[in-house]
Amino acid sequence: MSQRILIFDSGLGGLSVARAVVSRMPDAQTLYAADNDGFPYGDWPKDALVERIVDVLGRLIAESVPNVVVIACNTASTLALETVRQRFALPFVGTVPAIKPAAEVSESGIIGVLATPGTVDREYTQALVDTFASHRTVVLHGCRHLADMAERCLHGEELADSDLAAEIAPVFVEQGGRRTDAVVLGCTHYPLIAGRIADVAPWPVRLIDPSDAIARQVARVMDNRSASSGTNGGPTAFLTKPSAGFADVLAREGFARNQLLPL
Ligand code: DGL
Repeated sequence: MSQRILIFDSGLGGLSVARAVVSRMPDAQTLYAADNDGFPYGDWPKDALVERIVDVLGRLIAESVPNVVVIACNTASTLALETVRQRFALPFVGTVPAIKPAAEVSESGIIGVLATPGTVDREYTQALVDTFASHRTVVLHGCRHLADMAERCLHGEELADSDLAAEIAPVFVEQGGRRTDAVVLGCTHYPLIAGRIADVAPWPVRLIDPSDAIARQVARVMDNRSASSGTNGGPTAFLTKPSAGFADVLAREGFARNQLLPL
């Protein structure tokens, strides 16, 4: 009987984490869940979003009986990780902006953080800056459209370089002969278009993608758990709203079966 890992995001961004998890643990049963009816999470008011996440996760957990849940969404993790840990008797692995590794690798001392407006506003994110990067200049930028741009790219739509460049421009700063040299991809959607981001960046920087680190953490948690009591039904995706486009992308990513999450 294999271990069952539930990967949750508002949309398709969690696929960046799912790819890393599947490559590290090919024998585990990986389930993907997108709250596509709630996407994007970036602009939701806090209380309503916590309530939404608890509700959707409760239904997902009842339906899929996972061994571990990965909140593959910075916007959700920085807000609701503690709440869901208290609410559900399961291990949760969260995804929060990789400010610590960025602060460690930066030589110029200027790091950028691209994230959703919600993530940028969180106390959790400010605490990461204070704890791990107080000796650095940290330029946080809440991107209004970047997650949606990544979704559209996955759906095969054209994405203009100029629109992409405008979304990322604020984190590229020059100060006293130094300039940004590390940029945190603080939303799981962004690694999915990391190549395009690198192409339009005003100068080369390290793009910090936490997907592998998250997969390593999932593997550590799995080592300490026994196998799932449920049956292994193969890779399955859950959606909160019917969408042929989502189903196509998920099928391409190996989640051939999908089902609507029961209300
Ligand atoms: N993928 C999500 C994150 O990591 C957010 C996208 C959204 O729903 O705004 O923050």
